[in-house]
Amino acid sequence: MKKVLFIIIILLVFNSVYAPRETIKDSNSFYDVKLSSIKKVNSLNVKSYGAKNIKLSWKKISGNVKYQVYRSTNKKKWTLVKTTKKTTFNNTKLKTNKVYYYKVRAYKIVNGKRVYGKYSNIIKSQTMSKSRKNAIKSTKNLIKFNYSKKEILSKLNYNSSDENYAIKYLKINFNNNALNASNLYLELFDLSEEELRLALTKDGFTLSEIDYAINNISLFGENSLDENYKVKKDLYIIGYSLEDIEIIISKISSNNINKYLLNKKYNNLLDFMSSKYFKLSNINRYQNYYDKNKYDFDKTIIYVEIGLDNKFYTNMKKSNVNDEILILVNKYNYVNKNYNANLTKLKKGYGSGSLNKEAASYFYKMVDAAKDDNIKLKSVSAYRSYNNQKSLYKSYVKRDGVKKADTYSARAGSSEHQTGLAVDINTASSRANFQNTKEYKWLINNSYKYGFIERYPKGKTNITGYKYEPWHYRYVGVEAASIIHEKGITFEEYKVISKYE
Ligand code: DAL
Ligand code: ZN
Repeated sequence: MKKVLFIIIILLVFNSVYAPRETIKDSNSFYDVKLSSIKKVNSLNVKSYGAKNIKLSWKKISGNVKYQVYRSTNKKKWTLVKTTKKTTFNNTKLKTNKVYYYKVRAYKIVNGKRVYGKYSNIIKSQTMSKSRKNAIKSTKNLIKFNYSKKEILSKLNYNSSDENYAIKYLKINFNNNALNASNLYLELFDLSEEELRLALTKDGFTLSEIDYAINNISLFGENSLDENYKVKKDLYIIGYSLEDIEIIISKISSNNINKYLLNKKYNNLLDFMSSKYFKLSNINRYQNYYDKNKYDFDKTIIYVEIGLDNKFYTNMKKSNVNDEILILVNKYNYVNKNYNANLTKLKKGYGSGSLNKEAASYFYKMVDAAKDDNIKLKSVSAYRSYNNQKSLYKSYVKRDGVKKADTYSARAGSSEHQTGLAVDINTASSRANFQNTKEYKWLINNSYKYGFIERYPKGKTNITGYKYEPWHYRYVGVEAASIIHEKGITFEEYKVISKYE
């Protein structure tokens, strides 16, 4: 061991003494960096492309280098378009739907001279209009169905140059499609050669594509086509069982199957279909909401119809004013500033404010009936104009912040108070603990008889969007109020359910 160390030390000493000193003889040649010492720019990539721009990126070369980006439209004539220290380049203001080629090389400055590395790979990219991109995306979705060109074109909704471009771009092999479609037809329907030819012809395959398919198939059956063979085939490809397909076809038109069911397989489609609240156009929302929450199927549908799969205030619709006393105003449905509430000022002895005329007359009846039972009721807040509500909400936001204010105060346009159909009775404050009073008890047991419902009940915040407001009553008419009371549901749920009952 000692011996080895000794030899190493001797060698080191020898080396430092006898090694020739570096001297700068000829500065130019000494500093001449060989071309190979700057590597080629590697893996030039397209990061993204848009209608008029292309983003490129490449790997960094260590050291103090700059990059030159060259562009061409024909790979012959190249233009230097950028010199940069970065490893990305965003080429903007290009022509739409055009092909561009790029290459990049690096250089160093050595002794005042540029020393270049090799050119990178040449990359082909293209600008593409949004509609063309979308056409490609849609066409991609259709690939799994093994359609003919004609079928694909009939299912796309873009201008024909984008549609044809998409088909070309994706290099779809229609011979194969014809063959795959044939195999499927035979699996599903057990067709004779003649019937198969007929189906493929109807699908729009060309004669040569059909011949290709027929030549590559050996076993034929002897069945014939039924009128729904196309949708059956499509549903089968999506993943439905033959049994389910029969049910789907018996209940949903081919048009609607094409429109709503061929984008993806809905695992609970048949469950949803058996609910009386089912609306095919919302199937995607039902399935997504169900997958997240796993409520039962009726509840899933009702909640989606209410809008609960969207966050409050994110998907606002105009309230249906033709619903009159049954108008729904909440965090999904709003009324305009100029909504006509058809008001009357409350008579003396019934508290403050104005109500819708019909609501007022029933409010009088209710207050009078309560009085007979020794229960004192009065309005403390009834109609509030849009602007009124606006400043009220604003002041709450100032005090508590948006998040908290939203739990107890409506944004302008979304307050039932603007309809003249809502009234706060005796108090409008949680601190009053109105829910513990005999007045509240009376209202809970009797208000429906006069067409009023407790609008923001305890434990229904997820539906109404508001915390418990035992004082806030909403006039909906005796019929609706009775049903809502009996079923113990919210007005939101009632609005969905009542459409079907
Ligand atoms: N307090 C109720 C929710 C409103 O502001 O309309
Ligand atoms: Zn209220």
